[in-house]
Amino acid sequence: MKLSSCFIEPEGPIETKVQQPASYLRGVLDLDGKVVSAELAITACGVYRCFVNGRPVTDQVFTPGFTYYRERLQYQRYDVTGLVASGTNVVGVVLGDGWYRGKIGAFSRRNHYGTKTKLAAVLTVTFSDGSVAQLTTGSDWRATQDGPIRMSDWKDGEVYDARMEIDGWAEPGFDDRGWHGVAASAYDGELVPSRGEPITEHERFRPEVLTTPDNSTVLDFGQNLFGYVEFSVNGPAGRTVRLTHGETLDEHGNFTLKNVSMPGALEKRTGLRQEIAYTLREGSQTYKPRFTAHGFRYVKVEDWPEEVGPESFAAIAVYSDMKQLGEFSCSEVLLNKVTGNTRWSQKGNFLDIPTDCPTRERAGWTGDIGVFAETGGYLMDINRFLTKWLRDLALQQDPDGRVASIVPDVGMFKYMDGSAGWADAAVIVPHTLYRLYGNTEVLNAQYESMKRWLGFVRRRARRTGLFSRHRFSPHRKFIVDTGYHWGEWLEPGHDMGKDVLRNTFVPDAEVATAYFAYSAALLADVAAVLGKIDDASEYAELSANVKAAYRDAFTSDGIVESDRQCRYVRPVALDLLPEEEKAENVARLNDLVVANDYRIGTGFLTTPFILPVLTDYGYPNTAYRVALNRKRPGWLYEVEKGATTIWENWNGLDEHNVPKDSFNHYSFGTIVGWLFSRVAGISPLEPGFAKSRIRPVPGGGLKQAKCRYESAAGMISSSWTADDGEFRLTVDVPTETLVELPDGNSQTVPRGIHSFSCRVPE
Ligand code: BGC
Repeated sequence: MKLSSCFIEPEGPIETKVQQPASYLRGVLDLDGKVVSAELAITACGVYRCFVNGRPVTDQVFTPGFTYYRERLQYQRYDVTGLVASGTNVVGVVLGDGWYRGKIGAFSRRNHYGTKTKLAAVLTVTFSDGSVAQLTTGSDWRATQDGPIRMSDWKDGEVYDARMEIDGWAEPGFDDRGWHGVAASAYDGELVPSRGEPITEHERFRPEVLTTPDNSTVLDFGQNLFGYVEFSVNGPAGRTVRLTHGETLDEHGNFTLKNVSMPGALEKRTGLRQEIAYTLREGSQTYKPRFTAHGFRYVKVEDWPEEVGPESFAAIAVYSDMKQLGEFSCSEVLLNKVTGNTRWSQKGNFLDIPTDCPTRERAGWTGDIGVFAETGGYLMDINRFLTKWLRDLALQQDPDGRVASIVPDVGMFKYMDGSAGWADAAVIVPHTLYRLYGNTEVLNAQYESMKRWLGFVRRRARRTGLFSRHRFSPHRKFIVDTGYHWGEWLEPGHDMGKDVLRNTFVPDAEVATAYFAYSAALLADVAAVLGKIDDASEYAELSANVKAAYRDAFTSDGIVESDRQCRYVRPVALDLLPEEEKAENVARLNDLVVANDYRIGTGFLTTPFILPVLTDYGYPNTAYRVALNRKRPGWLYEVEKGATTIWENWNGLDEHNVPKDSFNHYSFGTIVGWLFSRVAGISPLEPGFAKSRIRPVPGGGLKQAKCRYESAAGMISSSWTADDGEFRLTVDVPTETLVELPDGNSQTVPRGIHSFSCRVPE
């Protein structure tokens, strides 16, 4: 029997507005013969944990993962040969709400994909004589909602009553007569095998126990992460202990969730709870939640029956199992901390899909991964992970080609879809996977989606906004001045609420036109790689037309006139202007940055580019001073304020330590891309590092820097020292590599280890 035709629903009629307890399900199979192999295929609408004869089938958590459920759902296959035996065998499953019907997104929508959890499983057992027996989910399965998980939800947490634990429920011999039957059900979309990386448990942290000024007991795990707390406790049965998870302490040193709450009235409806309420049974017991996880570093503990000791608690980080590819370190330890913090923000936000933050929204914001894909791709292997996500992006794309702000959908306002710089992830992310990993399959797979997105933007550009100042421009058909765009987003000092309001009424034509040109150019490149010559020239021409329009509309003869750093960075980084004009704009950018006392002034979209642009156009010292600046806003300011992940807002903690917005957004961690590609100097000359370039840039008073990157072509390392003007570089490369030294000399070297030295130019 096929997995797709054996969905069952374990619940009877329910009140959908009320959060339901988890369901426990059992199916029984009697086997007679010598088993040679057994395989289980399983999936759920919701999240499942599965046991065969009482033993877990996997160490993966939050299966079956998150996809755009309206179109597709992943299933997993497990080899369970070691778990089955001749005689009676039991498959036991617990089902929680998960992404399917739990609270998701900023608005904490429930029941977004459906109101009832569902399960489908097929156990196939092969005997030594070649015969086969199967157990499939069906009307003979039994279920109950009277188990210990009374409620489980992503954002709210879990309510667990240990007194209701059911001994032996997933084992043979259990009497399930008190359980009830299940109903046949169906899932409309496509079932696909898991495509990403499995979600598993990783690092563990012991806390320090604090008593805060308001006299609360708070655990400090020392690291902001996404995951849950495992604890052991002994106390009177019936006592309920409470653990609330948050990222920071407030300005008074007390536990708070304020920074990850929604503004004003929205908070009442959507509030983030991240709370575990655990009711004790008799004796000593150990617990960790199964169907919820939180973004946190601090945990407030209430009603604990014993003295709170650190040995009773461990925070467990949970994320998709990505391989670590890159490492960077240098003589400035605070920069190393920024690199570590960025990797932690990546871990905290890569849970089957790339999310913005692991707290307030936990949503697959396209723009966030659009800006971070390159840095993330240096740090960890995200090739499969993002290839999987991109498929959902395409499936969720509107018939008119518009790309959503969030993938998979969590019920965000429709009018915000198709935003420049966000929706362009449809082109930017596959192109990044191609450049870093040489992945041409993803280009093929996403090609139609990319074309459809560009088709949408093209049609959008043909309409000119009613009050647009571009109404009479000869270039108007190439200027995007309608639609909702998030814009540069979160420049220092900007206010999210006000920005959303402005963006709703005044389309940011500068950003939108820039991304139109950029994505068209990337698509021309992709078309050429795929041998689609006509498309390649069509998109190259389109891009050239849009660039001309941009230059005409947003610069004065190619020169930007603005007091915002992003305005200079964007046209240079996205290659919208001729080289001489770029150089002049970077000179102006440099003046602006110096006048700003070397403090960063960019938001989401240009932060990845500002340091590379300054470095490449002759201002590496300015780039270093921005990177090393310790005043707010700045990366080292965050680190000196005790950050262990990357803040969403440059103003995450002000001078009075008032926390603001999420503490775990990877987007501003894109400085790490600069550390790899400019400071250590490692970048691909050909896709997938088939040929590389190493062009290190000393500066900032760094005495040494070291970087290793396990590229698709093999391990690349670049390590240098700078002492008294003497620069020494050692590289170890797997393929032909162009080495460019700071004194301007360059050399192509074959595979192997090579050393160089030169004087560092003043
Ligand atoms: C998210 C961002 C996202 C943005 C849209 C925020 O609430 O957390 O990271 O990209 O909205 O601009």
